[in-house]
Amino acid sequence: MTQPKPFPVDAAVLGAIRPMQFRDASRVAELHRAAMGNSLWGRLGLPFLQQLYQAMVDSPWFIGFVYVEGDDVRGFIAGSVDTSKMYRDIARRRFMFLGPAAALGALRAPSVVPKLVETVRYFGVSGAEDVPGESLFCSFEPQLRGKRVSGHVNKVFFDELAARGHARVKITTETDNEGANRQLLSWGFKDTRRFVFYGKNMVTYVLDLVGHPRVEPTSRHPAI
Ligand SMILES: CC(C)(COP(=O)(O)OP(=O)(O)OC[C@H]1O[C@@H](n2cnc3c(N)ncnc32)[C@H](O)[C@@H]1OP(=O)(O)O)[C@@H](O)C(=O)NCCC(=O)NCCS
Repeated sequence: MTQPKPFPVDAAVLGAIRPMQFRDASRVAELHRAAMGNSLWGRLGLPFLQQLYQAMVDSPWFIGFVYVEGDDVRGFIAGSVDTSKMYRDIARRRFMFLGPAAALGALRAPSVVPKLVETVRYFGVSGAEDVPGESLFCSFEPQLRGKRVSGHVNKVFFDELAARGHARVKITTETDNEGANRQLLSWGFKDTRRFVFYGKNMVTYVLDLVGHPRVEPTSRHPAI
């Protein structure tokens, strides 16, 4: 595979990216559902997604950024310095909000229940447990796609992990997600593991951050 070229940074795009905040949760939930509505979390519905993002932004294990134009959030990335610790943390602290929202979502879409059970074993099947830094979700309005806005947001996220001492980052996606696969391969992500998760073919990619020509260890996100 050829080495990725340095990333041409557009200062205006970079300036429109800021850390995700509690107030962004409802808009981020909408963007999540618009692009990933058929995923497990998406099918639990907007109230659940909103609770999930509110819980994540309050977690010290969370890193997230939004791309804004004026007051309008038009895209986001959400990840973690350690996903399993983050999920355990929010399940413990926010169960009273997440539990009822998930139960209501499951009542509306009962077919998600077995999927929820399978999620418990997710960390066992997705691999790369030795890579704690992870990009979990991202979504951009369709008009922004293919313009490297998402590429800038990725860069900001990877720069943040590198600044916090992470040598690698992982991302799991569906093998047939053309947009995501094209972008990740262009960044130089390596396909480390394939597995089937609830009937879907998944791939876990890992990227070396150290010495990567597009990554500069720079922190733009408050550490809680
Ligand atoms: C997945 C997703 C975030 C990718 O975003 P995107 O807008 O296609 O990403 P980018 O604009 O950064 O472009 C990706 C690639 O397209 C090509 N490209 C984009 N703009 C280009 C340009 N001006 N010139 C040349 N190539 C270009 C490049 O190959 C680029 O990669 P590179 O910048 O590393 O060279 C987006 O499709 C999306 O929001 N999808 C819905 C949600 C989703 O699937 N989320 C991912 C779950 S893991």
